[in-house]
Amino acid sequence: MSSQQAVAAVVVLAAGQGTRMRSATPKVLHELGGRSMLGHVLAAAQPLGAATTVVVVGSGREAVEAHLAAVAPGARAVLQAEQLGSGHAARVALDAVPELEGPVLVVNGDAPLLRTATLTALVDGHTAAASVFTVLTAEVDDPTGLGRIVRDDAGAPRAIVEERDATPGQRAVREVNAGVYVADAGTLRRVLAGLATDNAQGEQYLTDALAPLVEGGAPVAAVPAPDPDDVLGCNDRRELAVRRRTLNDRVLDELMRSGVTVVDPATTWVDVTVTVAPDALLEPGVQLRGTTSVATGAVVGPDTTLVDTTVGEGAAVVRSHVLGAVVGPRATVGPFSYVRPGTRLGADAKVGAFVETKNAQVGEGSKVPHLSYVGDATIGRGSNIGAATVFVNYDGVAKHHTTVGDAVRIGSDTMLVAPVTVGDGAYTAAGSVITEDVPPGAMGVARAAQRNVAGWVRRRRPGTAAADAAAAAGAAAEGTAGSRPAGDTPAGPAEPGADHER
Ligand code: UD1
Ligand code: CA
Repeated sequence: MSSQQAVAAVVVLAAGQGTRMRSATPKVLHELGGRSMLGHVLAAAQPLGAATTVVVVGSGREAVEAHLAAVAPGARAVLQAEQLGSGHAARVALDAVPELEGPVLVVNGDAPLLRTATLTALVDGHTAAASVFTVLTAEVDDPTGLGRIVRDDAGAPRAIVEERDATPGQRAVREVNAGVYVADAGTLRRVLAGLATDNAQGEQYLTDALAPLVEGGAPVAAVPAPDPDDVLGCNDRRELAVRRRTLNDRVLDELMRSGVTVVDPATTWVDVTVTVAPDALLEPGVQLRGTTSVATGAVVGPDTTLVDTTVGEGAAVVRSHVLGAVVGPRATVGPFSYVRPGTRLGADAKVGAFVETKNAQVGEGSKVPHLSYVGDATIGRGSNIGAATVFVNYDGVAKHHTTVGDAVRIGSDTMLVAPVTVGDGAYTAAGSVITEDVPPGAMGVARAAQRNVAGWVRRRRPGTAAADAAAAAGAAAEGTAGSRPAGDTPAGPAEPGADHER
């Protein structure tokens, strides 16, 4: 980064209540694109290389401090006990670092679209003008609610006037204060100490720092943001939705430019923390969140959510909800499956329709095609889990593990009661409740033998369609007792009847 140590410190103002959000959550913790507003501001400022980062906290202090500890442990939270205004907040921050000298970036905590390039442009403008106080500005179509930049006839900035305190003429100005400033620490300290509260809100406005400096003849500057979208604040839920959309559009634009196909940008939501490789394809209705990554050639969607999930090359995840999983190269998931944390699908593995998995390793080429629950399991390579199999992992108190070896055939509707192991090359008979290990190569059968009660329909359901059909089928079958002599083993050639699908 060219501007290593571009500023000595970053001060983020995040103590305000954010009343307009109407939320129990502090405003700066509201999330968009996979980060809190505060997280976005800190991420934008991080490459400036400041040795000190101070975040002014107040409203919802505990929550904001806990969040900071998680996302920016190097930042220092400083308490503004009473919210007396943005100028007071900046002052509290500077008081906490009395030794600080040089340029300081001061930024509102509710500016989630800020980008590093914009901050760099501000710092560069500050340096070029040899300024002691530089404000970032933007020309906006609707300046309602924002501070206006008042310039003199020569175009030099004279003051920042809050809307509530502005004259009609000043309100017509469309150049607004972004709430982002670079100032010399010593100068800022001095001017903040003298701030008055003679304004509509009775607060100490940081914006009031500019005019006295101009009057005292100090060099100040106002730098327009390269992209006015960058500086938009976020004060209520409607603005949050609009900012989220803008952020998402940026993320998708970048992905598309890099070679990702996004079929329907309007219904595709990708966090800033996600990576998608060129030639991946995102179908409509996809959400990619957290640390998710999608490799080249993979297809995601339609209507799929991936959270903290890794999707390998050429894999496909269709109409499914996937959390904390690894989907191996060319593996497939869905439609309509729920893949939960700790699931690891090997290369060419398959989790088909209406399957739930959790903490489950499915080995290379193994398949769980339909209607199954696979929890706390290790499945080897090339095995097939028949339809409606349940890995019975929970005894009501504790979870237990099931191990299935390589090239195993689990019959449909098998209950694998953990802890249990099915050895390499073994089978289980459809409908079995497997409570004991099945050795390699064995057929595990655990179900009652079938008994046919001959003539039952004729005797017990006379006159029904079933009785008529049975009669039409002939008396021969009627006369035969059980279909299978007692004691026969149910492992005849047709028996596994299990793995539906190859
Ligand atoms: C502020 C600016 C306005 C600018 C706009 C840009 C002031 C007086 N006005 O208005 O010129 O156009 O941002 O979005 O600064 N805060 C504290 N402690 C306080 C008060 C505020 O930490 O006592 C923090 C807030 O958490 C927020 C920031 O300062 O992050 C700005 O406060 P906010 O109330 O959002 O100011 P705006 O009315 O949006
Ligand atoms: Ca604001």
